[in-house]
Amino acid sequence: MKTTRIALLAGALLCTAALAAPAARVDEFDDRAAAMVAGMTLTEKLAQISVDTNAENFPFADITSGVIGNIMNFGYVDAEKDEAQAAWLRSPRRLRMLDGIDMEYGFRTLFPVPIAQAATFDLASNREAARLAAQEAVASGVDWTFGPMVDLSRDQRWGRMVEGAGEDVLLSACMAGARTRGAREGGQFVSLKHFAAHGFPEGGREYGAVEMSETFLRDVVLPPFRTGIAAGADMVMAAFNTLNGVPVAASRHLLRDLLRDDLGFRGPIVSDWESIAQMARQGLSEDPVEIVARSITAGVDMDMASGHFRKYLPEAVRRGLVTPDDIDVAARRVVRMKLARGLDGPSSFDPAQREARVAALAAEARRVAIESARKADVLLQNRGDLLPLAGVKRIAVVGGLADDAPVLMASGPARGRKEDVVTLKGAIAERAARSGIATDWIEACIYSCLTAAPDDPRIREAAARAGEADVAIVVVGENRELTGEATSRTELAPSPGQLALIRAVAATGKPVVVLLVGGRAQVIEDFRERVGAILMVWFPGTHGSIAAAEILFGDITPSGRLPFTWPRSAAEEPLSYDELPTARPAEVDNRWTHRYVDRPPGPRHPFGFGLTTSKVDYGAPRLDRAEVRIDDVVTVRVAVTNSGRRAVREVVQAYARDLVASRTRPLRRLAAFAAVELAPGETKDVALSIRPIDLGFHIENGHWIVEAGTFRLFVGADAEATAHVDVRLLDSADRTARDEPVLCLDRVLAE
Ligand code: BGC
Repeated sequence: MKTTRIALLAGALLCTAALAAPAARVDEFDDRAAAMVAGMTLTEKLAQISVDTNAENFPFADITSGVIGNIMNFGYVDAEKDEAQAAWLRSPRRLRMLDGIDMEYGFRTLFPVPIAQAATFDLASNREAARLAAQEAVASGVDWTFGPMVDLSRDQRWGRMVEGAGEDVLLSACMAGARTRGAREGGQFVSLKHFAAHGFPEGGREYGAVEMSETFLRDVVLPPFRTGIAAGADMVMAAFNTLNGVPVAASRHLLRDLLRDDLGFRGPIVSDWESIAQMARQGLSEDPVEIVARSITAGVDMDMASGHFRKYLPEAVRRGLVTPDDIDVAARRVVRMKLARGLDGPSSFDPAQREARVAALAAEARRVAIESARKADVLLQNRGDLLPLAGVKRIAVVGGLADDAPVLMASGPARGRKEDVVTLKGAIAERAARSGIATDWIEACIYSCLTAAPDDPRIREAAARAGEADVAIVVVGENRELTGEATSRTELAPSPGQLALIRAVAATGKPVVVLLVGGRAQVIEDFRERVGAILMVWFPGTHGSIAAAEILFGDITPSGRLPFTWPRSAAEEPLSYDELPTARPAEVDNRWTHRYVDRPPGPRHPFGFGLTTSKVDYGAPRLDRAEVRIDDVVTVRVAVTNSGRRAVREVVQAYARDLVASRTRPLRRLAAFAAVELAPGETKDVALSIRPIDLGFHIENGHWIVEAGTFRLFVGADAEATAHVDVRLLDSADRTARDEPVLCLDRVLAE
């Protein structure tokens, strides 16, 4: 019964596939790919649409014989990489293999993790980091990055928050574009992931199902993919999750209707790790032959790691579930992509040159890594202007994380080497010494007591020693096992041992600075009032600690801004600033309003928040015109003054609210941002340009509409900015999904 249904379905799909293939021709590469695939054996075609992962006893002879056409995870060890390359060189085929790896924040040089880079609100440094990472990888023979990860998420419980750009649509789109462009410039093949809605698993629990309305999907989740595609992404990775009950790798609607038709994506769609095989566990079929048929006819072109395409597609063709043309269409997409990027020519990878080429990039990569961290670290609290440190002679640096190179490299360090890492302890001690300040290093316990009991005697001893210094810098947060894939958490506060460490040190009466290491928000309610300053240093990578030391000692002022809303409790998750207005907005003393009865309303820190150690004042926002037409650009200006004593980089933000619309619109949504540098005493007029066409939303038929009416533009330093101006949009727009605006693309291409 099941088989018949699938056969009918496959038959119906074939008509579309057959129609789609010839119509897709747009250039010479389509013709060349068609000719090349026509000359391939079935084995060779299956090689092109499969990706084989490095493993013990890898069958290198299969590369030589043409059974294997793409590989992954060979970038970690030189000898394995070279053996794979040698096997390919022995093969008679002209088309090179793709060699992919996860390297979302660097290859050898590790930049701050992606969520930290998003906190820079700076497209240029994101692009540069991606370019340099790609160049290091290509020099090492790795030409395919499984990234950028462009999954928006509003749930801090989800450990993969660290890999993306946070909760906001515009910021995520900008980051997707900048990172894609950078990786392409560095010579890599780029695959956006994970299509789609991977950042919204129920309860924030990894690998969970996603239920989501299509208008929300289009409004919030798809825009970063659209920008990444427009910026040149070569591939898109289909997510593991089910969306509205259908595993993505079998979802015709997602892969064909949305990704191909609406987003206009032409490149190969690659599955996630073994996700084709895993669909059996998602209850799609007990028969792997049916599963591969569902997958390829839904639109997946490449099978990552499961080997199912190679193993079961021939039988699927024999049974009539898949036609030979389905396989050809997928193979043509892969081959076309390779031909268009010159993979039929000689490889620039030369094992003899690897070290020298990577070394030649080191100085620039280090500079960009430090620059990125300078803009990424977020100052959350600075009571009594404790930072920058002044008048101290002796500093205690407390907590094992401060000197834990593997932790500071986070969970996906690609080829990063721990001997390259400048640890927080090292950077602080070095900077302190330059000012003649002594540093006491107090490890307390491993992972900064993450796993220690609150009454661990080492905590008491550490506090006693810290009390002898003038100030204590306590480093706490997440370790490697608590970040990245498969690290969903129900608690977001530092562990009981870490809290005990902070309390014990604070109880000495000495001023305390907490450095938070991690890739997501952490609940600070239990200690923030006991300490002076809190600086989010993320996972800084190989060189980012240097920037944290510079901030502590006042060489630079912090300028990172939160790319997500920072909660008071994990129970508030998911949380985002762009929620829809409720009929009963939160009121402090009114229980019958939109709030929890056991917490004050509002987050601990809003999206876009970050303190400076100088003082920045905003004037009233001004508009260049009160009325605007849909194809115009409206510019809102604001005078920003550095009235403090130190130079700053200020991230000026504008949010828009569509006051009245046919669907309830968010209370506000980021519409523009710009970073401006100000010397002490300096004022600059900052202009933020907004295209009214970007301020729309989707309706049920998938169209993007913008309705005439009043838009309120809030301007300020974070998502709680209150100063505003109103602009009147005189006309409306109604665009099909094919034709809707691409968020941030103009900036991605211009910067
Ligand atoms: C992850 C992907 C990753 C792949 C290959 C999967 O588990 O979801 O993001 O690219 O593994 O490592």
